[in-house]
Amino acid sequence: MRLDKFISDTGAASRKECARAARAGLILVDGTTVRDPSVHIDENHAKVVFCGKPVQWSRFTYVMLHKPAGVISTTEDTPRSVMRLLPPEFSKKGMFPCGRLDIDTVGLLLITDDGPLAHMMLSPKHHVEKTYAYMCDPPIGEEQVRQLENGIDMDGYFTKPAYVEADSGERGRITVTEGKYHQIKRMFVAVGSEIIFLKREQFGPLALDPALPEGAWRFLTDAEICALTSLQK
Ligand code: URA
Repeated sequence: MRLDKFISDTGAASRKECARAARAGLILVDGTTVRDPSVHIDENHAKVVFCGKPVQWSRFTYVMLHKPAGVISTTEDTPRSVMRLLPPEFSKKGMFPCGRLDIDTVGLLLITDDGPLAHMMLSPKHHVEKTYAYMCDPPIGEEQVRQLENGIDMDGYFTKPAYVEADSGERGRITVTEGKYHQIKRMFVAVGSEIIFLKREQFGPLALDPALPEGAWRFLTDAEICALTSLQK
């Protein structure tokens, strides 16, 4: 693989920035300065240091984004696409949001180019749990919590059992194993309330990093990637 592709795949820099850094002698491959960004390296074994920082290549890239309100979970190149919050190299590499959050929903969005993993995470067969913090109005009571947990008739579709941890009538957390269109909002409408705030905090084994501000992203850690990929086994 070309050195500049190796580096841009990791999100560390664009190919243009690689060319500049290479000319400035800021790229080391196996301890040797490489000034030609087009050289081919062995992506599985080469030790690459870019501007003083080691860069790790892996076949797929996994990113956690704290989605803010007002952006759309799409790969389409529109000004409001979540992909605009990430380096353009990620889109070029074929990364996409794994599932959708509504435009006004905030929280954890996994962005990856690992198609099989995304398919597994989203497949209804795998019952991957998603936990959302919610605020609703009017407040719900015990009977509505019971209805949400037991299953709701949502326009003829009966939702699977959910788990609700209510802090009060107005706020709490709900965990579901499905991802139907506007699912949580429709479930609350069905029990006579309305979601006024929704934040995804957990997606399978992945928890939203509390240190990640809205609009910010980071690469998944090795432990997080391992937790995700082990679901496929
Ligand atoms: N359920 C919703 O209603 N909206 C979301 O964005 C996610 C789950």
